[in-house]
Amino acid sequence: MRCVGRRGDSDGAANLSSDRGSEFGQAIAAQLGAFGLDRIKWECEMTTAVDTMDTTSQYRHDLLVEMNDDEQSRQEFVRSLKLFLAHKVSLGNKKVYEERVRPQLQKQGRSESIPEINRLMKKQEYYQFWSSLQRCSQEMMWNSIQIPVERQLDQLIGKAKKAAENPRGSLALDPDLAIPKWQTRVDIHCMPGGYHTELCEDDVAAGAVYDRAVYIYAMGRMGPYNDDIGASAAKWLKERFPDFKPKRILDEGCTVGHSTLAWAEYYPGVEIHAIDVGAPVLRYAHARAEALGVKVHFHQMNAAELKFADGYFDVVSGSILMHETGTKVAPLVLSEAHRVLASGGVMLQAETPPYKDLKPYDAFMLDWDTRNNNEPFWHASHDIDAVKACVKAGFSEKKVFEVLAPSAFESKMSQRYTHVFQSGDFGGGGQWYVYGAWK
Ligand SMILES: C[S@@+](CC[C@H](N)C(=O)[O-])C[C@H]1O[C@@H](n2cnc3c(N)ncnc32)[C@H](O)[C@@H]1O
Repeated sequence: MRCVGRRGDSDGAANLSSDRGSEFGQAIAAQLGAFGLDRIKWECEMTTAVDTMDTTSQYRHDLLVEMNDDEQSRQEFVRSLKLFLAHKVSLGNKKVYEERVRPQLQKQGRSESIPEINRLMKKQEYYQFWSSLQRCSQEMMWNSIQIPVERQLDQLIGKAKKAAENPRGSLALDPDLAIPKWQTRVDIHCMPGGYHTELCEDDVAAGAVYDRAVYIYAMGRMGPYNDDIGASAAKWLKERFPDFKPKRILDEGCTVGHSTLAWAEYYPGVEIHAIDVGAPVLRYAHARAEALGVKVHFHQMNAAELKFADGYFDVVSGSILMHETGTKVAPLVLSEAHRVLASGGVMLQAETPPYKDLKPYDAFMLDWDTRNNNEPFWHASHDIDAVKACVKAGFSEKKVFEVLAPSAFESKMSQRYTHVFQSGDFGGGGQWYVYGAWK
């Protein structure tokens, strides 16, 4: 299932027929055909550069789980399926919305709000069909990685211990840290066991699964180190404020350190700290950073109750952390960031864009995760008023900013020319929404 095409390139439509040999291809073609979509023009912007990033292009550091041929093909299938859903099948939803749902809303005198769009879209067979495939692809993704990780767990634990034998950085776990209940009550984004579940002593499984899953979920568009979010924020800061020379940086909700290491790349020699609440992801993060030769101090800590002294950091950064914190916790995360920042320091939170900046249909589609992908705080976090939230946390209104930071990976891949936000399954690429404030 190869996807090649450009805006308005009729080959995009022609390619569909080549998928029709398989049963799966026939099922999709039948659905598309039922809505007169089988000759749809592929209007999304992408180049062959995206297509060449298959599952083998992730950087193979020492901790990355090994795949046998079957496992590799299964993962490649999931990645291709996600790409196909995002860039072909999903387009039909827009047609269904424009031709059926929006006219109905107008006739009923209803607003184009997310709940109203959802009320009608969820009755549409085409949307149900896409949505169910989307959910399946997510479950298949985790499953395709859990299998090799569980098979190799003993070796992975051994490799993690070895990588951390003579560390440059450090790892401080806190066995008494209470895992927040918002993490234990759902398997976040359908990741079995979430970030914190431990299968055995010294477990690194959640980290190993996440590292690989991000590559497949993002279809390679976060770069070989999966670091595009942190890299884009750091690159923006460095280019926009070349005279700003931080001494200490904190990366919050670091998971396996994808974005953390990007901060180390853009600000070499700076003291880097990173926190998360999950022990297995932090063990993996520490070992991965050591394997890649990067010095980072990892701590098991809640961003809403930081243990650092007031004014300790010059930069506090979070990459897709805020959408996983609830309406009660998010304000605490921001006010703690304000407390630990030195005067003249800066907080940056990178996310997908808030709904206020999107068209109703795009906001509805981006909101799919709230209802279907175990992301309980997704909606609220995208309804955020960044200025109000930062002011409430103690920042001055004049020092708050909201920017679209160009994707660092995209700049490296100069063939790419999309100018829409990055957002996992829904395609895009090009920019990250970053809000924050100077202290
Ligand atoms: C989507 S992941 C972040 C990915 C990572 N920043 C990156 O760029 O690859 C969200 C992470 O935030 C962590 N997290 C959620 N709430 C937290 C909190 N209150 N304090 C610290 N970490 C938290 C989760 O455990 C998870 O590892």
